[in-house]
Amino acid sequence: MSQYQTVCEQLKQAPKTWLVTGVAGFIGSNLLETLLKLDQKVIGLDNFATGHQYNLDEVQGLVTPEQWANFSFIEGDIRHFEDCQKACAGVDYVLHEAALGSVPRSIADPITTNATNISGFLNMLTAARDAKVKSFTYAASSSTYGDHPALPKVEEHIGNPLSPYAVTKYVNELYADVFARTYGFKTIGLRYFNVFGKRQDPNGAYAAVIPKWTAAMIAGDDVFINGDGETSRDFCYIDNTVQANILAATTENENAKNQVYNVAVGDRTTLNDLFNAIKVALNENSVTYTKEPIYREFRAGDVRHSQASIEKIKSFLDYQPNYKIGLGIELAVNWYLVRNN
Ligand SMILES: NC(=O)c1ccc[n+]([C@@H]2O[C@H](COP(=O)([O-])OP(=O)(O)OC[C@H]3O[C@@H](n4cnc5c(N)ncnc54)[C@H](O)[C@@H]3O)[C@@H](O)[C@H]2O)c1
Repeated sequence: MSQYQTVCEQLKQAPKTWLVTGVAGFIGSNLLETLLKLDQKVIGLDNFATGHQYNLDEVQGLVTPEQWANFSFIEGDIRHFEDCQKACAGVDYVLHEAALGSVPRSIADPITTNATNISGFLNMLTAARDAKVKSFTYAASSSTYGDHPALPKVEEHIGNPLSPYAVTKYVNELYADVFARTYGFKTIGLRYFNVFGKRQDPNGAYAAVIPKWTAAMIAGDDVFINGDGETSRDFCYIDNTVQANILAATTENENAKNQVYNVAVGDRTTLNDLFNAIKVALNENSVTYTKEPIYREFRAGDVRHSQASIEKIKSFLDYQPNYKIGLGIELAVNWYLVRNN
C-alpha cells in the first residue's frame, strides 16, 4: 500500500476538519471532492473572484448527502482578516489555494494580484497561526524559478521572477519561512507546475492552455500558440496535486516541514506535442479537429522551458504521481466533452 493510500485509510478512520481556501476554484474544488469522499469535515472559503458556484454544485452531485453535509461554505475574502479568522476556527489542516492566478493578469493588474496573493496570504498565515492549526499547506508556484536556466528545476535553485505573479508567489515562500523562524509556525509550500484536469476554467482571457485549447477545438475555433510551439511545460494532472496536498498536510515528519516542494510529474511536453495530444484525445471521442494551430508572438513573462525534479517530494512525502500526461489529457478531455453536452 502506498503512503497516500495509508493516509487516506487513516483519515477515513479518524476524520479531521480541513479548511480549503479558493474552494470554488479548480484545484480547491478537486480538494473538496476528495476530502468529502474520505468523510472529512471541510470548511470552504471563497469570494468567487475566479471560482464558480457550479464547481461546488458539481462536487455536491459526486458525493453522498451525508458527505455533503460535512461541508460548510463561507463566502468571504482573504483580504479581510476577520474572514480568515472565522474560517480558521476549529480547523486541523489548512490547504490555502485562494489567489489570483495567471501571469498576464498580474501584468495587467499587479495591484489586485498583490493584495490577494501577498496581503491575503499574510492574513491567512496569521489567522492559521493564531488558531493553532495542525498544519498549513499553501499553493506556491513553479513561476518562482523565473529566469533560472537549469533543467530540471531543483527547489534550492531559483532565478529572478519574470512577472508580478511570480513575485507574489515567491513572497509567500519568504513569509512562510519567516513565520517558522519567528513564531515556530511551520508550513509547507507546494510549487505547482501547470496543473490541469476537470473543472479548470476554459473561459476568459486568463484561461490556462489545456482548457482553452480543448474548448476551442470542441467548438471548431482557431487555436493560437504563443511563440514557436517548442516552449515546454511539466503538465501535472489534478489528482497528483490532490495527493501532494494530502500528504503534505498530514505529514508528521518534522524534517518535511518548513519546506517547499515541486509538484509535477517530472516530464516535459512542448506546446506542439500538447496540441497533438488534445487533438488525438478528441478524435478518439469522435471529435475531429482539422485546423492547424496559428503561431503568434511569445507572451511576456513566460518561462521558456519548465520541468521539475520531483526527487525531494518523493523522498520526504512519498509522493507518487500516478497520472502521466497522456492519461491526464484523456480524463480532462472526456470531462470537457461531457460538460459541453
Ligand atoms: N493551476 C495551476 O496550474 C497553478 C500553478 C501554480 C500555482 N497555482 C496556484 O494554485 C492555486 C489555485 O489555483 P487554481 O488553478 O485552482 O485557480 P482558480 O482561479 O480556479 O482558483 C482560485 C480560487 O481562489 C478564489 N479567490 C481569489 N481571490 C480570492 C480572495 N481574495 N478571497 C477568497 N477567495 C479568492 C477564486 O474565486 C477561486 O475560486 C492558486 O494559488 C494558484 O496561484 C495554480
